[in-house]
Amino acid sequence: MRKLAAGNWKMNGTGDNLSMISQLAAAHPSPKSEILICPPTPLIHRAATISDSITIGAQDCHAASKGAHTGDTSVIMLADAGATYVITGHSERRADHKETNKNVHAKATAILKNGLKPIICMGESLEQREGGNTLEVISNQLAHSTPDMAAGHTTVIAYEPIWAIGTGKIPTLTQIGEVHDFIRHQLQTRFGTAQGGAFRILYGGSVKPTNAAEIFAIPNVDGALVGGASLTVADFSPIITALDAA
Ligand code: 13P
Repeated sequence: MRKLAAGNWKMNGTGDNLSMISQLAAAHPSPKSEILICPPTPLIHRAATISDSITIGAQDCHAASKGAHTGDTSVIMLADAGATYVITGHSERRADHKETNKNVHAKATAILKNGLKPIICMGESLEQREGGNTLEVISNQLAHSTPDMAAGHTTVIAYEPIWAIGTGKIPTLTQIGEVHDFIRHQLQTRFGTAQGGAFRILYGGSVKPTNAAEIFAIPNVDGALVGGASLTVADFSPIITALDAA
């Protein structure tokens, strides 16, 4: 399995920031891990022409292929612009746009049907963590957001505890390991041992150069979905190096 270092730029960056992609490519001429940048939608097309060694993805999509959906972008359009991955179900979309597991399932299905790769995100709130409900929440999100047509080589799962996003706080390494092992077990129960074993399970939430190596040493952590620290080469490059070394 090739590990995945994914950067989610969120709503940050304009054309001026694209030079970061060529700098990243120069810093990692033959990376062991796959490097993915998901810039804001208007930058996808330009980003995709910069380097063969940096894969480009989108942060969201509409589930329909075309039609009267003002302001939305279909998977076909994202593919045409050069995206190969699409993040779906990020907690910021679930919160800001009231996206449900059903919406995420429909988007993931559209992504797969169009030959792109979904990164399906899930994670518990602080209240759910403190209430002891983390595994129940993850079980529910995983079961209802992941389509039956998902497979290990096409679909990535991202575990992102909501309370760890942009806060500088992370779960203990034991807690991260517990959730990743649980997701792996659920995937293998549903898709079979080999197929379920082939999904990459990313950790996301305050991944930094300072904590990357210890997070990547946890079994069933197959990469990271990085927000703030993916915005500069100075922060993202050591995270990629740590993943390559894991
Ligand atoms: P931060 O790395 O900024 O905490 O964001 C994580 C995230 O939400 C990535 O999708």
